[in-house]
Amino acid sequence: MKDDSTTIVPDLANFDAHAPAFISDPYPTYKWFRENEPVFWVEKDYQSFWVFRHEDVKQVLDTPDIWVKEVGSESEPQNGALTKSLFASDGERHEKLRGLLAPLLKESIVDLNSTIFSIAESLVPAAKPGDDFNLIAEFAQPLPSHTLAHVLGVKHESWEKIEQLVEKVILANDPARGKLARGVGGGAMLSMRLGALVAAIAEEYDVLGVALHALLEVPDQLLPGKMISLMVDLVEKSKGTDVDFTIRDVSANSMSLSLAGYFTTTHVMGTGLVNLLNHPQSLAAVRSAFEENSSSDIMPGVVNEMLRYDAPIHVIDRFANEDTQLGGVMIKKGQKIAAVVGSANRDAEVFENPDSFNISRDTTGLLSFGHGIHQCLGAQMLRQELPIALECLLTRFPPFEIEDNPIWQTDPYFRGYTDLKLRFK
Ligand code: HEM
Repeated sequence: MKDDSTTIVPDLANFDAHAPAFISDPYPTYKWFRENEPVFWVEKDYQSFWVFRHEDVKQVLDTPDIWVKEVGSESEPQNGALTKSLFASDGERHEKLRGLLAPLLKESIVDLNSTIFSIAESLVPAAKPGDDFNLIAEFAQPLPSHTLAHVLGVKHESWEKIEQLVEKVILANDPARGKLARGVGGGAMLSMRLGALVAAIAEEYDVLGVALHALLEVPDQLLPGKMISLMVDLVEKSKGTDVDFTIRDVSANSMSLSLAGYFTTTHVMGTGLVNLLNHPQSLAAVRSAFEENSSSDIMPGVVNEMLRYDAPIHVIDRFANEDTQLGGVMIKKGQKIAAVVGSANRDAEVFENPDSFNISRDTTGLLSFGHGIHQCLGAQMLRQELPIALECLLTRFPPFEIEDNPIWQTDPYFRGYTDLKLRFK
């Protein structure tokens, strides 16, 4: 396959996944890793093997008996912690939960398009030439966040608090910006062990879990027929049957849906728009498709290419459930690996000329929604939200240009902007 990409040789002894140059453009470094060290131990901050080639990443995601979310995870968590969510569970428990929850999410997103449209319309600014607009804070975050609140069935006043807590958990995931960095200063934080970081996330997690659990005790804050109410109904219906689904499962899964269900969409709205504006021919094709009401023909390809080019979830963790070889490296039971889907999506073995943004390409092999048993349950929501966001930006917003350099968020596990300013013309 054709590959015109450039390569950057990383400093292997001091590889820093938070280095600003790497965060802003990790792809030349990924290329070097794919060609030279496809499975590489990242000591700093992560203490895990990072896996860069498409073939290896896919193998990890497709072999869930070897690559698990948690070693020994068939058992329930101890110390009164929440039960494991769909996202965090393995094996039979995962299969059972997925069978229970997938139909409920499907039911919760029936007729979602009109809701997304009206939220998007409400965010269109009444701007005059010269005005600024922060696309992330004023559009790309509220649109998917309010859409998710609707799907979960959480009323606005309660959702605001949940949203703030979700942001804290997401920040805590990033050693460069998270709780530890704020509490003890960035320099000291960098020498912290991963265990401390996990503990910090667990604390933020607990606060969010408590808030969501409290919400279940105020049913007037929950809309009937939507995801959380449907899960509560399932608890009632399953009493006295062999279905094992309790109110703790409702909290745990509400939490993981809140965490999984909007900020990734925010990211791809930002990167997708910038990538489109940087490719005038593609922009013209998308614009005319909207004008001619034929966007449904090209949108699946546009969405896939936006997801491939900059995967919003860049890295997916797993643990080895047994000693095993991966990409020629022996990984011991219990060791952690980080499957770098952002790199796999740019692998020339699968995608021709992978560093070119091409909305007409064949995106078979795309890994941005994961693969195998844990493949994203909410992909359909993104497939509805992103085209509506693009249509709104290109046909309802006053003409605009991107102002200055957008600012990347600093967590290598994700890819997106924290600040993306538009200036109206
Ligand atoms: C751009 C948007 C999104 C992206 C890129 C994305 C990406 C992903 C990825 C990569 C996984 C697999 C994680 C793994 O293998 O460990 C995943 C799982 C999941 N996603 Fe998404 N997601 C998006 C939107 C959503 C939305 C809108 C929802 C729901 C409202 C959602 C709910 C879930 C759930 C519940 C899982 C766990 C599935 C399982 O473990 O069986 N996601 N997502």
